[in-house]
Amino acid sequence: MVKIIIVCGARPNFMKVAPILSCLRRERAVSSLLVHTGQHYDQRMSELFFRELGLPKPDVNLEVGSGSHAVQTAEVMKRFEPVCIEHRPDWVLVVGDVNSTLACALVASKLGIRVAHVESGLRSFDRAMPEETNRLLTDALSDLLFVSEPSGVTNLRKEGIAGKKVRLVGNVMADTLLQHRSQADQSQILRLLGIRPRQYAVVTLHRPANVDRADVVEELLGALDAISEQLAVVFPAHPRTRKNFEALGFGERIRKQERIRFVEPLGYLDFLKLTADSALVLTDSGGIQEETTILGVPCLTLRANTERPITVEQGTNQLVGTSAKSILPAYHRIRRDPPKGRVPDLWDGRTAERIVEILLGESLSRSPDVAELVGTAG
Ligand code: UD1
Repeated sequence: MVKIIIVCGARPNFMKVAPILSCLRRERAVSSLLVHTGQHYDQRMSELFFRELGLPKPDVNLEVGSGSHAVQTAEVMKRFEPVCIEHRPDWVLVVGDVNSTLACALVASKLGIRVAHVESGLRSFDRAMPEETNRLLTDALSDLLFVSEPSGVTNLRKEGIAGKKVRLVGNVMADTLLQHRSQADQSQILRLLGIRPRQYAVVTLHRPANVDRADVVEELLGALDAISEQLAVVFPAHPRTRKNFEALGFGERIRKQERIRFVEPLGYLDFLKLTADSALVLTDSGGIQEETTILGVPCLTLRANTERPITVEQGTNQLVGTSAKSILPAYHRIRRDPPKGRVPDLWDGRTAERIVEILLGESLSRSPDVAELVGTAG
């Protein structure tokens, strides 16, 4: 039997673990344990996603909650170590680039447990992003590195990571999106917000670089004000964004703003419907750059760099920075001439299957009893 602990912690992890866990649980030769670190804990940031994505209740919840990066990472490590010691898995599988990803990879690696990392190799080359540190270190510790786009393979090669550990498998986010596309179509979110397909823009912002400084927020809200003169704007706000806007003195302005609709964070299905039917998306999220590429919806990324260059090279994404001077001309161009992207190779809805097959293959070569079980699996 191959024992795998699969870790999730924050909102963008849930759509990545869902298809992998569902594939793993179909394998007779695998016993899997789902560990939620509790990095995200609000009903709308966590539980709702479990329900909508059909994820089982976590076997273990570490309930770490919020804290500084050091505190949060350390708490996950302290609470994850006994779980690994008790269950002695063959693999710990981590996804993405959040603090929980690195913390659990580090614990496993120090205990001599093999680490598999899904979404390896992405690099923004911007060390000011906390996620970049998490990516670099998690990849350095991993024994199997599952990569979503060719740039990841190149980055890992340059970092000296052995090629045999690196597997280009495609994007697991595409699995989840394609599986839920028709269900999301039933969402009533447009009706509830009183908006019509292609008559609105969607905005999300939560990165420290964009929501922690008043001058940057001022610039971004200025650009959104100008856009909202032409197009309704829907802004589902992350808890840290809402808190920071209040703390930086933008609360009053936001409450008075009628053309920009600040709403609570949405669930997976409502957000998928909202994005799929929008005229364009403005975001600083990583995952949304990929989702818009899959959906063929124009995306303006409000950052100076991206760790997902394929969304710009092949998809519908464009990097526009954070100044109104760069955002607004790009907005007008995109409205006149929307980009025609393509969906990258291997973003075909079968990435989780490939990951599980490789994981089993790697385990098989080490343990004959697993080979026997796999041989008899129906
Ligand atoms: C984390 C990830 C980021 C990811 C994002 C998606 C890291 C370093 N960052 O950022 O890569 O894009 O998740 O959402 O891991 N909060 C709540 N309720 C919650 C969760 C957070 O109110 O359920 C508030 C708290 O004030 C908290 C703040 O949001 O301090 C930040 O949460 P945290 O998990 O530290 O990072 P995110 O900004 O969510």
